[in-house]
Amino acid sequence: MQSALRGLYTTTIPPNFYGFTNYYKNRALLNLRKFQTQSCKFSSNHEKQIVQGRAYLPPWFSVAPMMEWTDNHFRTLARIISKHAWLYTEMVVAETIVHQKDNLDRFLAFPAEQHPIVLQIGGSNIDNLSKATELASAYSYDEINLNCGCPSGKVAGHGCFGARLMLDPEFVGDAMSAIAASCSVPVSVKCRIGVDDHDSYEELCKFVDTIVSKSPTRHFIIHARKALLNGISPAANRRVPPLKYEYYYGLLRDFPEVQFTLNGGVNYIEQVNVAMNQGAHGVMVGRAAYNNPWSTLGYVDSVVYGVPSDPLSRRQVLEKYQIYADSVVGKDAPNRPNVRQLVKPLLNMFHSEPGNGLWKRKADAALRHCKTVKSFLEETIDALPNSVLDSQLSGNPPKWEGEFGNMDLLLPPKYAARTWGESKFHACVAVTT
Ligand SMILES: Cc1cc2nc3c(=O)[nH]c(=O)nc-3n(C[C@H](O)[C@H](O)[C@H](O)COP(=O)(O)O)c2cc1C
Repeated sequence: MQSALRGLYTTTIPPNFYGFTNYYKNRALLNLRKFQTQSCKFSSNHEKQIVQGRAYLPPWFSVAPMMEWTDNHFRTLARIISKHAWLYTEMVVAETIVHQKDNLDRFLAFPAEQHPIVLQIGGSNIDNLSKATELASAYSYDEINLNCGCPSGKVAGHGCFGARLMLDPEFVGDAMSAIAASCSVPVSVKCRIGVDDHDSYEELCKFVDTIVSKSPTRHFIIHARKALLNGISPAANRRVPPLKYEYYYGLLRDFPEVQFTLNGGVNYIEQVNVAMNQGAHGVMVGRAAYNNPWSTLGYVDSVVYGVPSDPLSRRQVLEKYQIYADSVVGKDAPNRPNVRQLVKPLLNMFHSEPGNGLWKRKADAALRHCKTVKSFLEETIDALPNSVLDSQLSGNPPKWEGEFGNMDLLLPPKYAARTWGESKFHACVAVTT
């Protein structure tokens, strides 16, 4: 249904009408999702989660989980700029949640405005993943995601997790089953397309196949490059292995009942729409959203979701953010953020704009003594011209000159070894399509 709609729109509507058509697609798909979940009777919780998982439509646009970047402060800024982007937390290690259960707000609390928001957890101990999910339930995340893509094998002695888990699909299937049993929201996996020499399309399919057959997971976020576990840094692991979008599109073809979000190397909003019009269910953007939040996130509501938006100027965004920031600023209390931490997400707001260099230099000086974000802004803002501060995003987003290539020619051979089927549930969904 989703790709049929998308096909119809791409062949009949010119590109500058994407926003308009997305609005109607959005409405139709949300109604479909509601109908699918409401119209079924379930004989068990597991069955319910499978059907919910299948009916679940992943976010069209999401901001990737990024350690030390997508903290509460950046997410608050992102939410001021886009009302519809889905936001992922930084990865929280399951053991941290379990061992800090008297201090959970520090790791899990977020302002209600941040919905829709997904908690990403990391770990390799099923009991702890399950307990962590249960403890996180009190915070009402919209989805729980397991990290199977982080290339650094160990974090502070927490053992094996991240991309290494891709080498043991059976384990991930069991872990996802336990995570799903500990919460009542959809669950998802974020992974690479392979690890070291285990990088064939067949192995990626086996990974997805095994998890889907063992658990109610029906959403995968595919970072379309493999992870190299030995020798290169996490940053190089996001740059050196080549992107293979054809693996992603192969999964769409071979697992039509599963939802896949495309991640990796998407730097322009136009690229999101091109990917979606080639059939992608959703696109996740990491570095571009952080490094240039204004002209990446600023177009999401209107261009990706097709929702008429009331664009703010950057001055208005700063004013709203400052109210949040000064309501949480430290005042030397333990566990409260300081001005430097609160200003950090703002530092890319004027990317490539006149005055940016001077503003950054003034920011450096002001951060040495300012005790509130209000005083920080008062001291630095005159480095930026009014034309930059007061203009709104308008018109079309920056042009993307690249292309994903002709996927029909690049697609890997079909995966023929599928082990699972959902015929039991087909009747339930068939009524709705
Ligand atoms: C600073 C930084 C931290 C990251 N931390 C995580 C993380 O905690 N969990 C995760 O799944 N991916 C993490 N990633 C990877 C991103 O989620 C994303 O998969 C990757 O950056 C590719 O997307 P992009 O090309 O749009 O940036 C991180 C990336 C960066 C740049």
